[in-house]
Amino acid sequence: MKGLILSGGHGTRLRPLTHTGPKQLIPIANKPVLFYAIEDLKEAGVTDIGLILGTNMPEKVKEAVGDGSRFGVNITYIMQGEPKGLAHAVAVAHDFVGDESFIMYLGDNILKSGINEFVEGFQDSNYEARILLQPVENPRQFGVAELDDDGHVINLVEKPKVPKSDLALVGIYLFKPTIFKAIDEIEPSWRGELEITDAIQELLNKNLKVDSHIVRGWWKDTGKPEDVLDANHLILDVLESENNGEVEDGANIKGRVSIGKGTVIKGNSVIRGPVTIGDNCYIDAYIGPYTSIGDNSRIIGGEIESSIVVGDAIIECNERIVDSLIGNHSNIVSKENSLPRGHRFIIGENSLVNL
Ligand code: G1P
Repeated sequence: MKGLILSGGHGTRLRPLTHTGPKQLIPIANKPVLFYAIEDLKEAGVTDIGLILGTNMPEKVKEAVGDGSRFGVNITYIMQGEPKGLAHAVAVAHDFVGDESFIMYLGDNILKSGINEFVEGFQDSNYEARILLQPVENPRQFGVAELDDDGHVINLVEKPKVPKSDLALVGIYLFKPTIFKAIDEIEPSWRGELEITDAIQELLNKNLKVDSHIVRGWWKDTGKPEDVLDANHLILDVLESENNGEVEDGANIKGRVSIGKGTVIKGNSVIRGPVTIGDNCYIDAYIGPYTSIGDNSRIIGGEIESSIVVGDAIIECNERIVDSLIGNHSNIVSKENSLPRGHRFIIGENSLVNL
């Protein structure tokens, strides 16, 4: 079975971070969200992977993933060009997939318990597609499935105004090559995209069988800043402690904390896990629960909690930063005697914030 991972799209809901790179490279617990998809496929035995790239700095994805050898997989890059929908992305990969079964994984989706169970038995089944579902509170924001009593899919609608169920389509799908013909037969949706949801509905229209699976454990589509921060919480919930850096005497560290190579934690620091700190960081501050600090960051003074610092940042202030997403190479500095206040930031790469 082959794998397709989609790493296109404009990521408009994650601006300004996506002005300087694709959303699939935003780190969750110091690892690009896309890497979780590659690892899930590898674990399910899918090692021949087509990575579909869009127009938003595709070279950054190539630089981060390379040929896939460090994941133990073989990556083929496929250019989608302008994003014209998920079904369009699949159609572009037709030559790569050939006449095999394949799994498609949206590169901004992240799952707790992997895909092994989902993939099992599909190839030899008489189903033309298998979809992954999860009950959600806001089904109108997703593709929504209606099932019969045996779990067979009877109807699918993309972002319905009046959802027939609360079962959202998770962005991970299994297909037989019959999907290509179905894609040829659909028209762009109201949002101008060829929807994969409509292509699967087209299989149903032809009386072909579509199976479903409900996700066990959590799932996040990291399309919006709050989802990225939620995913960071969920991954840090299972973080293991590790110290490859230098913790000076007097530093107060509690809970699960991972510290990278070359990182120095100064004696006045207080760190309350779960927290992950990358390589070559310098920390002389309070770092609160559910925070990920990327490589080469300097955090001096103040407090930061429940946030992601992508990396190469300088945060030197006497302030409290919460629920924030701070892009690469950002500087946040404040005047020495300003009063501590709480701040929430979503700031892109190379930003300078003077408080
Ligand atoms: C896409 C699919 C939708 C699915 C969602 C999962 O939505 O079209 O059916 O529920 O991914 O992440 P989009 O992110 O394009 O709005």
